[in-house]
Amino acid sequence: MPNTVVVGTQWGDEGKGKVVDLLTARSDMVVRFQGGNNAGHTLVVDGKQFIFHIIPSGILYQDKKCLIGNGLVVDPEVLLEEIQSLKKAGVTVGPNRLSLSEKAHIIMPYHRALDLAREAAKGKAKLGTTGRGIGPCYEDKVSRVGVRAVDLTEPEILEEKVRSNLREKNFLLEKFLDAEPLKPKPILDNYLAMGEQLAPFITDVSVELAQALKEGKRILFEGAQGTHLDIDHGTYPFVTSSNPVAGTACSGAGIGPNQLHHVVGIVKAYTTRVGAGPFVTELEDETGDYIQERGKEFGATTGRRRRCGWLDLVVVSDSARLNGLDSLAITKLDVLTGLETLKVCVGYEINGERVDQRPASLTRMAACAPVYEELPGWKDDISGARKVDQLPGEARSYIRAIEDITGVPVSIISVGPGRDETIIIRYPS
Ligand code: GDP
Ligand code: IMO
Ligand code: MG
Repeated sequence: MPNTVVVGTQWGDEGKGKVVDLLTARSDMVVRFQGGNNAGHTLVVDGKQFIFHIIPSGILYQDKKCLIGNGLVVDPEVLLEEIQSLKKAGVTVGPNRLSLSEKAHIIMPYHRALDLAREAAKGKAKLGTTGRGIGPCYEDKVSRVGVRAVDLTEPEILEEKVRSNLREKNFLLEKFLDAEPLKPKPILDNYLAMGEQLAPFITDVSVELAQALKEGKRILFEGAQGTHLDIDHGTYPFVTSSNPVAGTACSGAGIGPNQLHHVVGIVKAYTTRVGAGPFVTELEDETGDYIQERGKEFGATTGRRRRCGWLDLVVVSDSARLNGLDSLAITKLDVLTGLETLKVCVGYEINGERVDQRPASLTRMAACAPVYEELPGWKDDISGARKVDQLPGEARSYIRAIEDITGVPVSIISVGPGRDETIIIRYPS
């Protein structure tokens, strides 16, 4: 099974970064295929923490190549900062180690300004976006007025696009959103300078992947966000503006579906969500606080407190279908240690009617009450476990319940943030 896709099965922050870092050891290349610097992927290696927003989580392995696919929206300032901070940490990232697709779309200052001004204008009804300009950048891509990485190397094209876009964006900012307009010259100077620095990294990622596939190299595809933040399949409109589902690995990297061999769904042992939107199993009580504190559930991108709740297996089962999951990686199982009883949500009830899938209607979603199955908790610290039989029986039963209810086998169990704090049942590839 050479090529593996890693996707989030919930609302993001499931621990994708940790699992990608782990699986990189058995891959030659790591590719991101959607999203942007709304993502925050945390890895802890030898006690040192790294957070990546754009660069794939495989970058700490000096002999692996990382690629940023055409499906991403890239803030060049953030990308250059990440390259710099890696250099400071002793990890050199040159074009031999990192490629940026010439077709990836570029986040411009007017995208960030629009994102923030729209959220502010919505007041209480805001979505709780990360404010990084992700939605407005994808809008421009679909409207066919976006700036692509390749445009940063062609000054006339960049100037034409920026000037023409600003006419419309400034009208919106000033007249509709009560925000400051932007001037083209400083944007152009800054983006052309950044374009010069990034030029050596800009390539045709699809062609590079095709060559690697021909040579029999193993490719790992790193998803960002989570299935229920998907623009099509998520809790719309409380979603992001891309498709985090596994199928996007093809369109967002430029390969065919026959090149994907195994899809791993990352499942946090409970549920979290940052930003607004439906959350049936949310706990606004002491148990929620316990999980939030033990799990250190603060956003890696915005520092916001993550909302916490019981594991919602309706959500995970939907993800099994939407992604074609072959196996699950359960993360943060250690966080549940110390709870007397654990609950997993196995269905919803809407005005007395049982449903097994998450409804699309927001009205029906708001009326959903969780149907729980209760399982006994465990008291002993499990972070030292490296084999399934070193886990307490109750923890093993919890894992078995997840497998039984979702119908997907578990391949990995994570019991701590460190690379080694992991139980590998079988390698997905
Ligand atoms: P991602 O966006 O899916 O990569 O996840 P984040 O990095 O945003 O959030 C996951 C957080 O949980 C990070 O701080 C990780 O270091 C941490 N983490 C990952 N796996 C485990 C685990 O098994 N146990 C604990 N306690 N922390 C974990
Ligand atoms: P990773 O890859 C958790 C959420 C935001 C907001 C919604 C829309 O770290 O799992 P956007 O800025 O994308 O327009 O915001 O999506 N969101 C995430 N939540 N993890 C993420 O990424 C997220 N990326 C976006 O909080 O609710
Ligand atoms: Mg995250």
